[in-house]
Amino acid sequence: MAKWTTDNIPSLAGKTIIVTGGNSGLGFQSVKAYGEKGAHVIMACRSVSRGEEAKDEILKTCKNADIVVMQLDLADLSSVRKFAAEFKKSHQQLHILLNNAGIMMVPYGLTKDGIESQQGTNHFGHFALTGILLDVLKNTPESRVVNVSSLAHKQGVMDFDNLLFDDGKGYASFKAYGRSKLENLLFTYELQRYFETNRFDTIAVAAHPGTSNTNLFSHIGGNLLQALLKPLMSLFIQPSSMGALPELRASVDPDVRGGEFYGPDGRGGLKGYPVIVQPNNAAKDKESARKLWEFSEKITGVKY
Ligand SMILES: NC(=O)c1ccc[n+]([C@@H]2O[C@H](COP(=O)([O-])OP(=O)(O)OC[C@H]3O[C@@H](n4cnc5c(N)ncnc54)[C@H](OP(=O)(O)O)[C@@H]3O)[C@@H](O)[C@H]2O)c1
Repeated sequence: MAKWTTDNIPSLAGKTIIVTGGNSGLGFQSVKAYGEKGAHVIMACRSVSRGEEAKDEILKTCKNADIVVMQLDLADLSSVRKFAAEFKKSHQQLHILLNNAGIMMVPYGLTKDGIESQQGTNHFGHFALTGILLDVLKNTPESRVVNVSSLAHKQGVMDFDNLLFDDGKGYASFKAYGRSKLENLLFTYELQRYFETNRFDTIAVAAHPGTSNTNLFSHIGGNLLQALLKPLMSLFIQPSSMGALPELRASVDPDVRGGEFYGPDGRGGLKGYPVIVQPNNAAKDKESARKLWEFSEKITGVKY
């Protein structure tokens, strides 16, 4: 079968798209691809200046791209509320919500609202954002929510007795990252069930990039490790333009169906072109998904 590339992206004229973490890595590549196809793209960034720099970079090669930078800090629920309120002032529709932003393997820390930071940023911030934007998604024919997970979901274990590693108990940076990426998948499947039950014309889809050369690895180790890691990464792992293909396909391919998961077709799912892939069994567990949903509504205060 032919490989899916950005050449397969249809015209996106008239479509409104939000990309969280759009200033860097996979998000940046996604904003660029959407912009080149004529979409109106909101680059939702925690740093507006980094967002403006990234936008200028895209405009160098695509001068007509319609990109707006807006401030969004997923690690601060008041920022999520403010972002969504600002967006709704000027938009009645949202065709694609690409929940892409993330942090990986940081030391134990808390978001502004006291949530363990990797889960707070990667899952709970996106859960809140999606919930607050439900009305505009509902108002948009064939809209999509795409959540970006990782192969690391396979290392994730749900422990509802100590979900947030309270006071750092049991915390290891890889455990919290794996859990957050498992949560991205559990959320996707529960959200798809929610859309079906409530007769939304919206679908929920997940994607993972395999391994891809981005800034995500910059939190690991000190300067020495970073100096060694960077040249190795550019030699052995795929560029961000390839890593972005699964989330792009999940968000725009007309053949995509709700509840699908896209990732690279290469050995071990580490690199290649996007195809439907399967998560592990834990990601499909309906009981975990329901419990996570209830916990997420409670801790974020966002009711669906
Ligand atoms: N690269 C890989 O190999 C790989 C593998 C598996 C999964 N993923 C997933 O891919 C997604 C994108 O990561 P990437 O590889 O493109 O990494 P990246 O280059 O580090 O980009 C991450 C983006 O998320 C933003 N972000 C971080 N914390 C945020 C917050 N609190 N509020 C709003 N935005 C925030 C970052 O903003 P700043 O620029 O301000 O830091 C940046 O724009 C993540 O969900 C990651 O888990 C990546």
